[in-house]
Amino acid sequence: MRFYSSFHSILILSRFNFAISTVPKVYLNNTVEHGVNTECKTCPYVLCPNKLYYDSDVNVTLTCFTTGTEISGDSIWLGTSDGCYVTQYDLVLYNGSYSTTLAPCSPSPIKENITTQSATIKYDTECNITPSTSVDTVHYLKPNTDITVTCWTNDSTSTVINDPMWLKTTQNCYVAQIGLAHPANTSALDFCGPIPFLELINAANRSGSDSPDSPTDPEDTDKPAEIPHLLIRSANYLINVTVCEDYAYCRSCPHLNCTVERAYEFGTQIWLQCLVASTAPNETFWSETTDWCFVRSEDLWESPEGDYYKFPLCSDFEK
Ligand SMILES: *[C@@H]1O[C@H](CO)[C@@H](O)[C@H](O)[C@H]1NC(C)=O
Ligand SMILES: *[C@@H]1O[C@H](CO)[C@@H](O)[C@H](O)[C@H]1NC(C)=O
Ligand SMILES: *[C@@H]1O[C@H](CO)[C@@H](O)[C@H](O)[C@H]1NC(C)=O
Ligand SMILES: *[C@@H]1O[C@H](CO)[C@@H](O)[C@H](O)[C@H]1NC(C)=O
Ligand SMILES: *[C@@H]1O[C@H](CO)[C@@H](O)[C@H](O)[C@H]1NC(C)=O
Ligand SMILES: *[C@@H]1O[C@H](CO)[C@@H](O)[C@H](O)[C@H]1NC(C)=O
Ligand SMILES: *[C@@H]1O[C@H](CO)[C@@H](O)[C@H](O)[C@H]1NC(C)=O
Ligand SMILES: *[C@@H]1O[C@H](CO)[C@@H](O)[C@H](O)[C@H]1NC(C)=O
Ligand SMILES: *[C@@H]1O[C@H](CO)[C@@H](O)[C@H](O)[C@H]1NC(C)=O
Ligand SMILES: *[C@@H]1O[C@H](CO)[C@@H](O)[C@H](O)[C@H]1NC(C)=O
Repeated sequence: MRFYSSFHSILILSRFNFAISTVPKVYLNNTVEHGVNTECKTCPYVLCPNKLYYDSDVNVTLTCFTTGTEISGDSIWLGTSDGCYVTQYDLVLYNGSYSTTLAPCSPSPIKENITTQSATIKYDTECNITPSTSVDTVHYLKPNTDITVTCWTNDSTSTVINDPMWLKTTQNCYVAQIGLAHPANTSALDFCGPIPFLELINAANRSGSDSPDSPTDPEDTDKPAEIPHLLIRSANYLINVTVCEDYAYCRSCPHLNCTVERAYEFGTQIWLQCLVASTAPNETFWSETTDWCFVRSEDLWESPEGDYYKFPLCSDFEK
């Protein structure tokens, strides 16, 4: 339900808590809004782990109402027959008041129950709406940024170089563990649960997530959200590339005038963090390596700017 709020009714009901317990058990059926996948969570807050998710247009049986993370001014969440919570915001408009039809969920209110751990960003790291490199980026995190992670997920389809582990942060987005200074202690964190395909356009107004950083990658703007992975190398970020010249000189800045800090020999595999478009004629792009210096695309077998979907610009992380 995207435009109406039953909040007023809740305020009224909450003054008569005793009477509520006598309300007969009524369930309601409703449908997930078209074009939206909704996460069904273990508690009614965006940072809570997912128990499962419902696809667009699926019918859901609602068993109780409660309040949780406010989304577009709407803090009503609904318990489902699967024993988890969905936001009213992702359901088709119900012509009635959930809070007078359904019983309140128990206990009331429901507390946010999440695990947390602190972590530090090591390499330029995108914080994405789902644990994948080919989805919307919510934040660009610079090295040495301190973050708090809340749950983990690993899935071989989201592997970055050789690490499938991603962590959800308290900014309500996911970072690849490979970009962190130290791996998280997953035995002390919740599993994030199954995660559907999500898009920023549907999530931007959730107060659990800040307004997204705007990406500056000119290649991004007109690309569709999902593209055939056969055309573009499976997205990898960081990416692993191979030197194709006798030496690839790695310089202090992205220009041929800059000091050579290292020379990578032919065949060496190096890891790249991000791209800089060259300002010089006859050059394409430079990339920053995990040794914090810059190599030219001309010296690599792969084309970091062309072969990889959504490989970010270094300037994305400078904001
Ligand atoms: C909701 O849907 C279920 C399963 O489709 C059905 O058994 C139940 O009667 C429906 N309830 C209402 C109130 O429509
Ligand atoms: C959902 O419910 C509606 C009516 O209540 C029904 O027409 C529709 O077929 C159901 N959809 C699914 C996927 O079960
Ligand atoms: C909502 O319900 C009211 C009263 O039952 C009715 O007058 C109104 O037309 C309904 N609105 C919609 C959009 O169905
Ligand atoms: C929080 O969730 C954990 C499982 O993830 C559970 O063991 C614990 O009892 C919950 N705590 C509260 C206060 O609900
Ligand atoms: C995901 O993590 C679990 C638990 O740490 C592990 O058993 C499993 O092998 C991992 N899966 C992948 C694809 O790494
Ligand atoms: C990871 O967390 C578990 C469970 O809390 C704890 O027993 C263990 O000591 C932690 N490991 C490290 C390396 O901190
Ligand atoms: C988010 O909020 C803004 C301003 O309140 C509104 O213009 C926009 O349509 C909302 N987006 C969604 C997806 O609801
Ligand atoms: C690089 O050197 C050329 C001439 O040697 C000079 O014109 C140019 O300004 C230099 N560029 C930078 C970025 O230092
Ligand atoms: C990636 O890089 C590492 C070390 O730089 C290397 O050992 C590994 O074989 C490379 N290739 C792939 C496909 O990961
Ligand atoms: C750029 O390439 C063209 C043709 O390959 C060449 O004529 C020109 O001198 C080059 N410019 C520079 C600055 O190297």
